[in-house]
Amino acid sequence: MSDSIRFHVQPGGALKGAIRVAGDKSISHRSIMMGSLAEGTTHVSGFLEGEDALATLNAFKAMGVKIEGPDNGKVVVHGVGMHGLQQPQASLDVGNSGTSMRLMSGLLAGQAFSTTLIGDESLTKRPMKRVTDPLALMGAKIETTETGTSPLNISSVAALKGIDYDMPMASAQVKSCLLLAGLYAEGETWVTEPAPTRDHTERMLQGFGYEVMQDGPRRGVKGGGKLTACDIDVPADISSAAFFLVGASIAEGSDLTLQHVGMNPTRDGVINILRLMGADIEVSNERVIGGEPVADLRVRSAKLKGIQIPEDQVPLAIDEFPALFVAAACAEGETILTGAEELRVKESDRIQVMADGLIALGVDAKPTPDGIVIQGGSIGGGSVNSHGDHRIAMSFAMAALRATGDISIDDCANVNTSFPGFVELAASVGLQVSVA
Ligand code: S3P
Repeated sequence: MSDSIRFHVQPGGALKGAIRVAGDKSISHRSIMMGSLAEGTTHVSGFLEGEDALATLNAFKAMGVKIEGPDNGKVVVHGVGMHGLQQPQASLDVGNSGTSMRLMSGLLAGQAFSTTLIGDESLTKRPMKRVTDPLALMGAKIETTETGTSPLNISSVAALKGIDYDMPMASAQVKSCLLLAGLYAEGETWVTEPAPTRDHTERMLQGFGYEVMQDGPRRGVKGGGKLTACDIDVPADISSAAFFLVGASIAEGSDLTLQHVGMNPTRDGVINILRLMGADIEVSNERVIGGEPVADLRVRSAKLKGIQIPEDQVPLAIDEFPALFVAAACAEGETILTGAEELRVKESDRIQVMADGLIALGVDAKPTPDGIVIQGGSIGGGSVNSHGDHRIAMSFAMAALRATGDISIDDCANVNTSFPGFVELAASVGLQVSVA
């Protein structure tokens, strides 16, 4: 896909049927990282074949790990052990993927060789001091630009030492970075987060046989252990399901089932928030697969109402706000979001870019420093720009289900980072979307 990809969506329609959305991005990244460092062969199924997860896969290949696939979501990782990675011949380019850059900075800080991590235009603007500052406390040597952005030049050091770190922001990427660095550090590495964030790293480390210590909200690892290969079944990504949860809720006459969706309690804020707004979401077939809860979700259209979004739900729905803003625009009354300043440093400034797009479609949306206020009502047709942000592109595509005219969305190529096949899958259940 090129930068000029534009989605064109006709108004109206309903979402009907049963689908499985793309594999979980967070779990896919971690399966490659831990599979590579493990002893033995890890078999992954349901792997997300999107550009972000592939960036991680290619980075580990460049460090000498033999990886087969992906082939229909199946990947075989021949682990090299904790000290088996080799120095790559060139900088590791992780494209648009903040997760790759932040998690890998931690585990690369502990290697016996130097590396450089680079990314695309959007990633190059994103804050990296949040990982390099605590890594420096562990003794890591990482150079950023003067403004604290990538490229990250990571030099090898004699040894990392464990720290006990109070994270200033709720970020699973920072937590995971430090725990992965902690595998290579002398002594114990502890992190305390201001609010619970996704815990896939902790769950998967334990699945690979590495103990993760718990002490209230603190999580810790002892350096010097080893990972043992295991099989990983990646569930469908609740963040990708979110577009369909919102789409089917707002489009009259919808009845859609989303199969095998990851339901980790640190990720289910979108369901809690939509239910508070009056959504009709039925959870069935709940099971635990490879240490992660999974379920089928049936969503039917419902009359939504505006709410004050509880701040404790913000980290649990952090990637779903672009879609939730579309739900708010279709709800009766006012929706207020606060405590979500992290949205300003995602793949785009999601508060500003969503506000601009909603306003272009005639919605009354007022950005605030840490959130937004949206008056529900009707959505008009028009043209919006996703600013290369995959989740904004897919959210505005769903908005067309309730719009009064066509919506065209510019700069949609990055949908491929997290949800390849989105257009085809959405069209198969009733979204009148095409690529121009
Ligand atoms: C992720 C953590 C979140 C999320 C991102 C994936 C992860 O980022 O937005 O899409 O896999 O750990 P933050 O840690 O910056 O909140």
